[in-house]
Amino acid sequence: MTIKKIGILGGSGFVGCTLANHLSREGYALKVFTRDREAKRHNLILLPELDLIEANIHDQVQLSAHLSDCDAVINLVGILNERGRRGSGFHHVHVELTNKIIRACQENNIRRLLHMSAINADASGGTSHYLRSKGKAEDNAHAADGIHVTSFRPSVIFGKEDSFFNRFASLLELIPVIFPLACAEARFSPVFVEDVAKAMTGALAEPRHYGKRYDLCGPNTYALQELVEFTGKCIGRNRVIIPLPDAISRMQGLAFDLAGFIFHALGIEQPFSRDNYLSTKMDAVCRCNDLVALGISPTAIEGIVPGYLTNKTQRGKYAAYRRAK
Ligand SMILES: NC(=O)c1ccc[n+]([C@@H]2O[C@H](COP(=O)([O-])OP(=O)(O)OC[C@H]3O[C@@H](n4cnc5c(N)ncnc54)[C@H](OP(=O)(O)O)[C@@H]3O)[C@@H](O)[C@H]2O)c1
Repeated sequence: MTIKKIGILGGSGFVGCTLANHLSREGYALKVFTRDREAKRHNLILLPELDLIEANIHDQVQLSAHLSDCDAVINLVGILNERGRRGSGFHHVHVELTNKIIRACQENNIRRLLHMSAINADASGGTSHYLRSKGKAEDNAHAADGIHVTSFRPSVIFGKEDSFFNRFASLLELIPVIFPLACAEARFSPVFVEDVAKAMTGALAEPRHYGKRYDLCGPNTYALQELVEFTGKCIGRNRVIIPLPDAISRMQGLAFDLAGFIFHALGIEQPFSRDNYLSTKMDAVCRCNDLVALGISPTAIEGIVPGYLTNKTQRGKYAAYRRAK
């Protein structure tokens, strides 16, 4: 199978921009789809052979037509929170969209699909709507007739534009002295976005990766509290972190859900939800880190995160300005 042109859904986001860079360097032509070209064009249009296309990818006819000249598809679309609380939003974006992508691939005889899932995704055993819908979508992709699927199941992903360390850095800047933290004991093995992109790029054209599901983690595991303390050190905001009891963490998730319409009206991503709380009931760690099996040496947070967080603080911006002078 020769792959020249790839359709990337969800390619305008954090992982997508890094992955597009890697694929572009390998010489692939890319069609990246977005709901808002104007808002996303600054991230991507400088790459050669990349078309950034505004489309409604939930419309089966549009989706199939847009993918008709592609040799492979990459699905990166994912959400961490839905507007309701019963799982239908997750089902729509993760499961129904994946089914439409499968159909579009079959209609266009596209035989290669890379599918982005998440660590602990499990259609029946997942603890949250997020994890169950991710698991169902992954299973459907692997069950599709005539398509060689590889799925990727990362722990939390870090990198310059991530929403994990950057969000905690913003919160630590805002909240003085004492920082109450929900789910402080939840465990994560943060994986570097460049490593994820390398894994996906390397797997694309290699038949030995067909049908495989890869768990992707960094080299170390940390409790959430340790990661927030590390973030504080990176930006020079050492707060006293108070782990919230489990029942209060759950209530905090519910409270954010009830206030969800406010975040929506303000155009701000909801920082926490009951579903997020339920996802943390499973440690986001790898039993076996497939990055290593893929020949990639996992990058640790310590050598990367301070570099991009420091430049975001006022003090860091000033230091960078002085260095640049
Ligand atoms: N980041 C992590 O720590 C992490 C960890 C595990 C798994 N993952 C998975 O990795 C994938 C990429 O994550 P990311 O961090 O790059 O996410 P991201 O920055 O939020 O990007 C997601 C992309 O999906 C598109 N999208 C979101 N909702 C959509 C909807 N309702 N309909 C159509 N398109 C929609 C957005 O495109 P437009 O807004 O341009 O339309 C956006 O570019 C996701 O599947 C995520 O679940 C991420």
